[in-house]
Amino acid sequence: MDYRTIKRAYAILSPVYDFLFDKIFHPGRVAAINLLEINPGDHVLEVGVGTGLNLPLYPGHCKVTGIDISEEMLRKARERVQALGLSHVSLGVMDGSNLEFPNDSFDHVVATYVISAVPDPVKTLMEMRRVCKPSGHLVILNHFKSENPVIGAVEEMLAPVCTRIGFKTDLKLKPLLERVSLAPEQLYRVNLMNGWRLVRCINPQ
Ligand SMILES: C[S@@+](CC[C@H](N)C(=O)[O-])C[C@H]1O[C@@H](n2cnc3c(N)ncnc32)[C@H](O)[C@@H]1O
Repeated sequence: MDYRTIKRAYAILSPVYDFLFDKIFHPGRVAAINLLEINPGDHVLEVGVGTGLNLPLYPGHCKVTGIDISEEMLRKARERVQALGLSHVSLGVMDGSNLEFPNDSFDHVVATYVISAVPDPVKTLMEMRRVCKPSGHLVILNHFKSENPVIGAVEEMLAPVCTRIGFKTDLKLKPLLERVSLAPEQLYRVNLMNGWRLVRCINPQ
């Protein structure tokens, strides 16, 4: 999956994204933001913020920075910030695998439904680690390849099609975390048929 494919896919998806993915993924979003355990004054980075569906879920007492590679998705997020008066949120176009922030800039970093939608999941997670303070929470919510051999085979079959529309279905959680030297501190199954995994890691830097 390359940047051109991703940008094109999300430019097309942006007008219908909320209609398709708001309600169905809402339980996971609530659980992910709760898992951050945000304290007053904390600064949270949301990577791949998309249309900003998570933004109303953050407490007003924290600061949120949201970045995304897609101008079109971010336009929707900006409209939401303005409509809801979310003055604690700032947004910008940025590549999650090349974050323009110094080391240890954020108390927590979160990515919901993103890590299988980026061209380079390992580099993106490394960057999330780099900009998160030591002992900060790294929260990832995503669909990962099933350990069930039948479902896993179906997901592999679907992978070439899904890649064209902006996400991978065959990404495996354990090897991914191992490659970035992260271990799950908390792990839950969420959303429809418990098909998505919500992981919290403590940043070991
Ligand atoms: C499935 S959407 C999820 C959006 C949002 N996080 C949510 O929970 O609804 C995936 C998002 O990741 C963004 N994305 C893909 N590659 C990216 C990258 N390298 N850096 C930043 N954002 C990226 C896409 O533009 C898209 O907005």
